Amino acid sequence: MDQIHITGGQPLQGTIPISGAKNAALPLMAASLLSKDSLTLTNVPDLADIDTMVELLENHGVTITSMPINDLGLELTLTANGQLDKTAPYDIVRKMRASVLVLGPLLARLGEAIVSMPGGCAIGTRPIDLHLSALVQMGAQIELKEGYVHASAPDGLHGATIRFPFVSVGATENLLMAASLAKGTTILENAAREPEITDLAECLVAMGADIHGIGTESLVIQGVDTLHSTDHRVIPDRIEAGTYAVAAAITGGSLDLLGVRSDHLGAVIESLTKAGANVANGGDTLTVSHPTGHCRGFDVISQPYPGFPTDMQAQFMALMATADGASLITETIFENRFMHVPELTRMSADITVHGGSAMVRGHRALKGAEVMATDLRASVCLVLAALAAEGDTIINRVYHLDRGYERLEDKLRAVGAKIERVSV
Ligand code: UD1
Repeated sequence: MDQIHITGGQPLQGTIPISGAKNAALPLMAASLLSKDSLTLTNVPDLADIDTMVELLENHGVTITSMPINDLGLELTLTANGQLDKTAPYDIVRKMRASVLVLGPLLARLGEAIVSMPGGCAIGTRPIDLHLSALVQMGAQIELKEGYVHASAPDGLHGATIRFPFVSVGATENLLMAASLAKGTTILENAAREPEITDLAECLVAMGADIHGIGTESLVIQGVDTLHSTDHRVIPDRIEAGTYAVAAAITGGSLDLLGVRSDHLGAVIESLTKAGANVANGGDTLTVSHPTGHCRGFDVISQPYPGFPTDMQAQFMALMATADGASLITETIFENRFMHVPELTRMSADITVHGGSAMVRGHRALKGAEVMATDLRASVCLVLAALAAEGDTIINRVYHLDRGYERLEDKLRAVGAKIERVSV
């Protein structure tokens, strides 16, 4: 099993190229199931979660060719033109919750799907009831048997007006794909507005789908009979960019983040600025710096886009742990998303959790320690804390990082971090 060893205290200086967005690439790959024609995706990040989606789609009968591009990212061509298998097995789905995104496309294309109940990061119970009840409103019959969702729509899916009781990224994506091939008009109300959903909708439109209201909370989809081939470039990863922005601020360094969409980073940039970091936006480069690495404490609350992203909550907690003053960090999207708190506490952070909020009393001396990664964003928060801490930190269970950060050690080493991966 690998560990990451970090010696803290180096202000990071230089340039980090930002990869394509994992959370955009995964639904885009699932969209290949909707057509017998090829879908070519560029700027796909080379990550363990992408490998899992490749394995799942190949298991369904999709032919996939993968080509590395200039040291960073992949070009994938996905063709679902043969006999398709309708089952998403437990052994693959348990590795990644986003596997459930094959449900909508399989049901729309084949009229049948059998999908294992999902696994993924251990951040709460994370049910899929919204996906299922919305598909039922479109005419699907659903049975849960032995840990599998058995979904069928013998007469095809039909359009419906669906109002989600609360915002779900995955349910919006699944329904958007299913509705693209359904008969008639589907209206998705209280839809998620994350940039990854806009990216999926734009790709579906390029494949021939009829979607209106893209980027709003009300999506109107007029079903079509077939979708066709297209080439699509995956948007940059706003969470990876936000993570390295915090790395610049927490180490008192200055980083140029290349290839970002700063319009996707509004709440993160606003929070960095409130914390006292300098943020300059020039085209597709975001420059983030802080003179000392000791920011100002302020309160953060996670919310659906365009609010502050839950996927940046752990990273900001590391930043607030080293800030001057206190901050209250409130998590509203996931229960149990404070598993990084005991690990940060091992590094001398002063944090108390009360229900969905964490009171962080910042101070200037985090100390290196041996810690355990518990989920993807919690792991990277420990990397950030370690970069700022005095002394050496050893992070265990780093496979979580490999799910979501392309060449993390290389990117950080290139800007002056003392970081290495060690096999033990
Ligand atoms: C996606 C992202 C994840 C991010 C999250 C919220 C991907 C691959 N993952 O996850 O990184 O943290 O959005 O921005 O894109 N819920 C239900 N029933 C459902 C569906 C969701 O109760 O049927 C709950 C979840 O448990 C959670 C909340 O709704 O409390 C939001 O979840 P959702 O937006 O669906 O997250 P994911 O799509 O799983």
